Amino acid sequence: MNQNFEVMVAERHHAGFAAVICDEMANSAKARGTGIAKRSPDYIRDKMLEGKAVIAFAQDGTWAGFCYVECWSHEAYVANSGLIVAPQFRKSGLAKMIKQKIFELSRLKYPEAKIFGLTTGLAVMKINSDLGYEPVTYSELTQDDDFWKGCQSCVNYDILMSKERKNCLCTAMLYDPKDHWQPEETAQQFKQRAKAYERILAIKRIRFLKYFIMKAHNKTSKNEKTGIGI
Ligand SMILES: CC(C)(COP(=O)(O)OP(=O)(O)OC[C@H]1O[C@@H](n2cnc3c(N)ncnc32)[C@H](O)[C@@H]1OP(=O)(O)O)[C@@H](O)C(=O)NCCC(=O)NCCS
Repeated sequence: MNQNFEVMVAERHHAGFAAVICDEMANSAKARGTGIAKRSPDYIRDKMLEGKAVIAFAQDGTWAGFCYVECWSHEAYVANSGLIVAPQFRKSGLAKMIKQKIFELSRLKYPEAKIFGLTTGLAVMKINSDLGYEPVTYSELTQDDDFWKGCQSCVNYDILMSKERKNCLCTAMLYDPKDHWQPEETAQQFKQRAKAYERILAIKRIRFLKYFIMKAHNKTSKNEKTGIGI
């Protein structure tokens, strides 16, 4: 599909779209069977009122996509989170346009901040690489407890905590304004390593699935011993 979109910084009059955006975020996570840090419509609305969100529309005015900015560690870090494209508009380059816009907004508002994101998707890794982000370990992200608390609503939170916040299903990517590769270089690196990243994402999914199976097994054995649920 070749569509034209309007991608802009969200404003007060867009607040009415908060509920539909939240629903789409939850539905997409469910469909993918992946985790997500859940956000309420009020949270999304606040982001719009604060000028910390980007919203996109199709030519006929249909809502098409969204993303927002979060600040952590006293604005030393900025996360571009909650990227969502309405299903009917996917694979037409819209996510790339939204990420470009939210990246520019983040750089404008917080020029000193390191910009980061967590993702389980190769498409988002590709977009981030095109912008100059590189994959990093979780230790290079904000250690602000409030950021990690946002993961509590994700189905994989147990895994994150069992790994002491050092690893999970998501891949961490970061853009450091003071020390970064050029976008052409990170894009090239992604191209060279895309197959390896795909394998790593698959291995992570399998390994962490095993963790859940073992946990469920241990719980059943414990219940059988204590007679709970029998
Ligand atoms: C992920 C999502 C945002 C992508 O939106 P989209 O508008 O379809 O993405 P785009 O069309 O802009 O494509 C982005 C780029 O990723 C590439 N891409 C897509 N899938 C890919 C894959 N499996 N491997 C490598 N690159 C991939 C595309 O080719 C495109 O690059 P190009 O323009 O250089 O060809 C959308 O599918 C979505 O909303 N999913 C549900 C929510 C979600 O997963 N959000 C991300 C949370 S981190």
